[in-house]
Amino acid sequence: MSDVSHSQLPKSVDVLIIGAGAAGLMCAASAGQRGRSVLVLDHANKVGKKILMSGGGRCNFTNLYTSAENFYSRNPHFCKSALARYSQWDFIALVEKHGVSYHEKTLGQLFCDNKSKDILDLLLAECRAAKAQVRTRCAISSIESGQGGYRVESSLGTVHCESLVVATGGLSIPTMGATGFGYDIARQFGLNIIPTRAALVPFTQHKRQLERQDSLPGSSLSVTASCGEGSFHEQMLFTHRGLSGPAVLQISSHWREGEKVTFDLAPDRDLADWLQQRRRESPEIHLHSVLSELWTKKLVQFFLQRQHIDSRPLKQFTEIELRELGAKLQVWTLVPDGTEGYRTAEVTLGGVDTDQISSRTMECKTQPGLYFVGEVLDVTGWLGGFNFQWAWASGHAAGEVA
Ligand code: FDA
Repeated sequence: MSDVSHSQLPKSVDVLIIGAGAAGLMCAASAGQRGRSVLVLDHANKVGKKILMSGGGRCNFTNLYTSAENFYSRNPHFCKSALARYSQWDFIALVEKHGVSYHEKTLGQLFCDNKSKDILDLLLAECRAAKAQVRTRCAISSIESGQGGYRVESSLGTVHCESLVVATGGLSIPTMGATGFGYDIARQFGLNIIPTRAALVPFTQHKRQLERQDSLPGSSLSVTASCGEGSFHEQMLFTHRGLSGPAVLQISSHWREGEKVTFDLAPDRDLADWLQQRRRESPEIHLHSVLSELWTKKLVQFFLQRQHIDSRPLKQFTEIELRELGAKLQVWTLVPDGTEGYRTAEVTLGGVDTDQISSRTMECKTQPGLYFVGEVLDVTGWLGGFNFQWAWASGHAAGEVA
């Protein structure tokens, strides 16, 4: 059975959802299960494209440790109600109901054992069971409110609805269908938009710095990345254009142009103390050999060159020299040139101001019947399955009442 209907659009439905991504499909299933007639419209040629490309093809669909602390928003309390009423455990139960096998990769991050498509199939099966219709390749041209609902003009026809749910996501990866349409709808109804920016995104570096690092692309190490109030202990990866890996993606959400980022390159030890200890134990050993216990040879060479340090046996360094050297090698502070932007960002910070949205229902306080769910709102998760959990929770919150 086809998941996406090709019949004529109905003239009128109870709930019309714009955007067939994670939040829109979850909302459609929830509203449909309550007996509401539901239509989901998406301008892309396929539904759920970001679900399919997520988690390296295995969709990190939630996180065991999800809590409000894992989200950025001008109102940090906003996400609490929806997350409490549709938690990670609810989504895990749904995954298990559909027999999708999964595993915890690290830090509570749950991934499919097989493919991301398992999650999309699960959502489409729920939509089918709830008799929610889904239509793709549908461009929306105008939205008007009146007569106890909304009139939506689209390339496939005009539809009246009682409730209109905006689930158009953020701006990241425009080639996958991302648009700012949800923000346009919000502005049309007088809502405020918190300025948006690319987040969970790699850093780019200056050409001169890249030349110094030209042997490193592909090398990774465990670091603590810090910027402003953010601090994340995860892997960092050198790339041909700059820096990536989970630690960098996480800290990018805290970084602003021109700011410094600090990397603790040996987060599980005090390098100065450790080098002293290694000197006592093995005075003949060369500095570069000791450091190779922590980092790859290429990284050791790069970090030593960066600090103009020549490797020699540890016994040839004085205690004070080793202390200074340890402190220098421990921390790398740099100002990234920029980020890769929306082209590769996983998410968008900012969005529809939650001040004007009910945290219980996702309905706009000043515009009855208009709902915003998922990433279009000013709620952005950390890396690690939190963004999907927000899509499920907010989509479900609206689906329970719309
Ligand atoms: P989503 O973007 O999923 O859906 C929006 C839908 O609206 C799309 O189908 C789009 O075509 C449609 N649309 C947009 N404009 C429209 C218009 N004008 N008219 C009609 N339709 C329109 N998160 C996570 O928790 N775990 C992970 O593993 C990953 N991995 C990941 C990888 C990559 C490469 C990216 C880019 C992102 C992730 N994410 C993630 C983030 C996650 O994908 C994202 O937060 C959710 O998909 C957001 O769900 P939404 O439903 O809000 O938007």
